[in-house]
Amino acid sequence: MAIRQIRKKGDEILSKKSKEIEKIDDKIKELAQDMLDTMYENDGIGLAACQVGMLKRIIVYDYLYVEEDGKKSPVVMINPVIKSRSKSMITVEEGCLSFPDEFKEVKRHEKITVEYVDLNGKKKTLHAKDLEAVVIQHETDHLDGIVFLDRV
Ligand code: NI
Repeated sequence: MAIRQIRKKGDEILSKKSKEIEKIDDKIKELAQDMLDTMYENDGIGLAACQVGMLKRIIVYDYLYVEEDGKKSPVVMINPVIKSRSKSMITVEEGCLSFPDEFKEVKRHEKITVEYVDLNGKKKTLHAKDLEAVVIQHETDHLDGIVFLDRV
């Protein structure tokens, strides 16, 4: 377990596009675990690899985690691609570990379908809605160098 340093506002890596992951090797697995550790340590619900300085298409999240009950439901997505988006939108106040003092309401699609590869190399499809859909849209934006403030 390792807590990595989070890149903050003004760091140009946050506006760069991340590269596809071709092989899930031990380094990628370690990165995923470190990202989860870093996310939980900082009380975040999602994190993209560029936020710890790695321009790789990997996101982690746990939108259900609350410190009180301590149950963790971590999700790791490699090369996630949003395949469809509902017309209906929702607005949620978002924050970001790279912008610790900023919270803004952002309009996102209420439901999405996302395809990704898990840490075992299995292709998966997930239908997500509400907060989970919001988190996935926020984190996949990071992979394209887009931060939530760009969506306000
Ligand atoms: Ni963020």
